[in-house]
Amino acid sequence: MADALSAGDETTRIREMSIDDIPEVFHIGEQVFTANYSQSLYRTWDEYEITTLFNTDNELCVVAEAGDMILGFALGTTVKKQRSSWKYGYLIWLGVRPDIQKGQVGSRLFREIKRRMKEQGVRMIIIDTSADNRPAINFFEKQGFGHIQEHVYMTLNLSLKPKKRSEKRA
Ligand SMILES: CC(C)(COP(=O)(O)OP(=O)(O)OC[C@H]1O[C@@H](n2cnc3c(N)ncnc32)[C@H](O)[C@@H]1OP(=O)(O)O)[C@@H](O)C(=O)NCCC(=O)NCCS
Repeated sequence: MADALSAGDETTRIREMSIDDIPEVFHIGEQVFTANYSQSLYRTWDEYEITTLFNTDNELCVVAEAGDMILGFALGTTVKKQRSSWKYGYLIWLGVRPDIQKGQVGSRLFREIKRRMKEQGVRMIIIDTSADNRPAINFFEKQGFGHIQEHVYMTLNLSLKPKKRSEKRA
């Protein structure tokens, strides 16, 4: 077990995700994208995320493997904006088993997905994560990311009755 988890070394292989990897990738994701983790309000870690990306962007779904164990994964897609000649790469999910984090697996996964995106003509890679996810922000800064922009989410709870004008004034 310890050998298989000697994360960043040569025994770790980065390869395209196959259909058989999906359950293991899903379970690693459950460990790292917990209820406290909110990447955004409109995206949650579930099996449809993986299967949808696997069906649409197979080349941008990669895993790190040591022996027969999956150590981590990176799942991405590309986005083309109207009236822009630029193609963007969107790295949506990047996760490494908690017990082997900080062992360079994330860096290797990122290097590979960046290479693949570049091959597909991507000129800029975008990621998003919550503002308090300091480890991930440090990680992406280490990979060369910059220009952090904070985003504001607002909510309107439709199950609450709107307050009457007189109640608002009181
Ligand atoms: C973010 C994540 C993918 C990084 O993977 P990793 O294999 O642990 O990262 P690496 O070992 O390749 O780290 C590379 C660099 O990132 C930074 N880094 C990584 N983890 C860090 C941490 N916990 N705290 C501070 N900096 C960290 C360091 O600068 C590190 O460089 P160093 O090795 O010279 O110290 C991993 O921590 C993870 O799965 N986190 C939970 C899910 C998540 O937040 N995903 C990102 C958004 S989708």
